[in-house]
Amino acid sequence: MKLCMIGTGYVGLVSGVCFADLGNDVICVDNNVDKINLLKKGKIPIYEPGLSELVIKNFKNKKLNFSTDLKKSIKDSDIIFICVGTPTKKGGSSADLSQIYKVSKEISSSINKFKIIITKSTVPVTTGDEIEKILSKKNSKKKFSVVSNPEFLREGEAIRDFVYPDRVVIGTNDKKAGRILKNLYTPLISKGASYLQTSRRAAELIKYASNAFLATKITFINEIANLCEKTNINVEDISIGMGLDKRIGSRFLRAGPAYGGSCFPKDTKAIITTADKFKTNLSVIKSVIKSNENRSKILLDRINRILNRKIKNKIITFLGVTFKANTDDMRDSSSLKMIPWLLKKGAIIKYFDPTGYKTEFKKFKNVINKTSIKDAVHRADLVIIHTEWNDFKSINFKSLVKGKKFMIFDMRNIYSASKIKDQGLKYFSVGK
Ligand code: UDX
Repeated sequence: MKLCMIGTGYVGLVSGVCFADLGNDVICVDNNVDKINLLKKGKIPIYEPGLSELVIKNFKNKKLNFSTDLKKSIKDSDIIFICVGTPTKKGGSSADLSQIYKVSKEISSSINKFKIIITKSTVPVTTGDEIEKILSKKNSKKKFSVVSNPEFLREGEAIRDFVYPDRVVIGTNDKKAGRILKNLYTPLISKGASYLQTSRRAAELIKYASNAFLATKITFINEIANLCEKTNINVEDISIGMGLDKRIGSRFLRAGPAYGGSCFPKDTKAIITTADKFKTNLSVIKSVIKSNENRSKILLDRINRILNRKIKNKIITFLGVTFKANTDDMRDSSSLKMIPWLLKKGAIIKYFDPTGYKTEFKKFKNVINKTSIKDAVHRADLVIIHTEWNDFKSINFKSLVKGKKFMIFDMRNIYSASKIKDQGLKYFSVGK
């Protein structure tokens, strides 16, 4: 099939490359000329394990191409995936759909034969209806079908998630489009992915409801972790005990910092705004957002207590500053809240991140980037393990202590307390 991905951000690029690898002819379009030129040279603007190799391979064998010519790319394709951003509106909480509607207008004037137009971007319920209205102004309804096909890719695991998804959700009542899309996804369905065809609105909501539910699970275990700390219980025992109940499941029950990233914070806010529009109060999700916003305060208070309320002039090292491991994404990372607060209290921050220097901290004089774990922890008072990179999972801390001993606050519960204590270092973790 000939596919066109509009937007070569995370979703568009990963999906486009993976579709090409399944044997489709894919053209990835973006209005950012520099990005397209980089991609043509095999250079990837984001950090995603395995992505670069797949781009180079499929570009070489001509299954994948890149372009800035939107009109031509649409005309040449059978299926158009809209993969542009739907960030939170500035100063608001609803999704900003301006890019979606701009692209829809452009598609509208380039429909030369039957096309399936798919929203892969996360879009609020009824966005598909709006796109259909835009397209209908210039085109007969026989010439196109608007479908919702949400993505469920996790950053850092995106290629695996694409190739082995739990489910493929197709939102359409159009039989022809349903048949074509089932064919497109057959290689994944035959490997075990569940295939669910629903109404378009249901598919749109499945995405938001899934993300809101996962955010709820994390927030829930984070609050239980707070109780564990007061009652001398290990939260990991609770996660295991709860997870063994098949109705609950063990995943997304790891206590830690506030959830972040490009999806959960934005999507939890957007689903509430959508529900408000339909006069429905999603009180559980509202509490989740509030609790998550409070999470960094709770961890900062813990840091304050670990340092005997003397943060001034203390050297605090962050191992990892992104919102989770295996990504270079800083969006809504809890480090963006914690580091400025610690600086205000007079701390000096050093950080090491496997994905390197972060411009987000450029404006702060007392934030120093280090290019190795060894340099980052040198002379530190407190080392915070903020993300769960493999690089941080078997550090011989004792060998890194030169003179002054540092304490460790393991926000991801990577280490065993007894092993670290055997090394003669003070160790703190979450929910224990
Ligand atoms: C998420 C969804 O998982 C994915 O399906 C959707 O398409 C996009 O949003 P992603 O943002 O890449 O993916 O991150 P994810 O791995 O889901 O983690 C989100 C946040 O939750 C991170 O901050 C992570 O550290 C945190 N988390 C996750 C926990 O704190 N505990 C857990 O048990 C799981």
